[in-house]
Amino acid sequence: MTESLADSPTTHSDIPKFDVDLHSPEMLRDPYPTYRQFREAGPVIWLEPHQMFAVPRHAEAVEVLTRWKSFSSGQGVGMNDFVAQAARTTLQTDPPDHDTYRAIEGKPLLPNAVKALEPELRELAVRTVDDLLSRARFDGVSDLAQVLPLGIVANRVGLPPEGRERMLDWAAAGFDSFGMIGNERTQSGLQTMREASEYMQSVPGRLTPGGWADQLMQAGERAGLDLQTRLTLISDYIYPSLDTTIHAISAGLALFAANPDQWDLLRTERALLPRAVSEVVRLASPILWFTRTVTHDYSLGDVALPGRTRVVVLYGSANRDERKFPDPERFDITRPPNDQIGFGRGKHSCMGMSVARLEMEVLFDVMADSVERIETGTWRRSVNNVLYGYEHLDVTFRPSG
Ligand code: HEM
Repeated sequence: MTESLADSPTTHSDIPKFDVDLHSPEMLRDPYPTYRQFREAGPVIWLEPHQMFAVPRHAEAVEVLTRWKSFSSGQGVGMNDFVAQAARTTLQTDPPDHDTYRAIEGKPLLPNAVKALEPELRELAVRTVDDLLSRARFDGVSDLAQVLPLGIVANRVGLPPEGRERMLDWAAAGFDSFGMIGNERTQSGLQTMREASEYMQSVPGRLTPGGWADQLMQAGERAGLDLQTRLTLISDYIYPSLDTTIHAISAGLALFAANPDQWDLLRTERALLPRAVSEVVRLASPILWFTRTVTHDYSLGDVALPGRTRVVVLYGSANRDERKFPDPERFDITRPPNDQIGFGRGKHSCMGMSVARLEMEVLFDVMADSVERIETGTWRRSVNNVLYGYEHLDVTFRPSG
């Protein structure tokens, strides 16, 4: 990695330049030491291999995310133009389309509707944790973290069953496809997404009546959206909901295993569950980055960003910004809950946040009833252009009393 303040390819010769490829396996497995260097270098940096600006600190990340008129999602939030045209979901639109889509899709995800999911999530969590307590060792990802998120997709979204076993692959491919167009994972992600959209073409008339997808199709029709748009929007209930939550849950297992004092604290003070979930999401930051396109020349602090350039928002880096979070590497479930931006911020903040929070709160609550100690063993990181998390994590539950 090189950093230099000279010979910038842009007019911004004083902006720190980094020759760091965000898609390199080293960065995807552990970007945090490099993120620290980004933050130390300045509020805005230039990434040479991507030919894009990036904001590694919390304050500028929040500014970019909350000024949607200046920082557009409509030209896509990835690093290539193709994925924006292929998937015009809520994520990749600006108002007024964005507001229409969000109003149509958002109903089952509103806090009161989500609260009604609690009994079924709790029952599934109790069954799963009981089973895992009887096993000497299990995979924290496939045996535990995947269970609730996949359960929601299977039981609530209401899609025909034959595509379900491919959902995890499609979700990961969807995130890979946001990368640079010349990157191999981006190409293979785009290829796999074609398979996913063929499946989507087969769903009309086969949706479970009353399920989230069925409700969306009907509400979208009433709002005058064409069939293709409605089918594209169904994916908002699937792809952003799986690996994100799965990675956050497995990161939570690893964090509580490494910090037994925090596990003891949560077990005795369950009122800390919402804060504990926020703190897990802060350190997990399952989505490492998305981009925005600058719509007109914009001064970010004292840095002049020219219009039509892309800015990479580094959520994971912002969530460990020492300017915002004292002792940022420390796992502390008593931190104020609303500072972290792992669920985004502003107009595009996570639409499924209440579902993800409920899944995690219920699971940690059920575990806290019967697990005295969480122990972890060997692990492997997954490698994805946008997502950060475990592909595998050995876990043992030590039962209480
Ligand atoms: C821990 C789990 C999750 C994390 C960390 C997460 C993270 C995020 C982030 C960072 C964004 C903002 C994107 C941006 O700034 O452009 C976002 C948006 C979104 N998320 Fe999540 N998410 C999670 C779970 C879910 C779930 C369970 C669902 C669906 C049920 C979901 C659906 C969405 C949708 C549809 C958007 C787009 C919202 C918009 O553009 O207005 N997410 N998520």
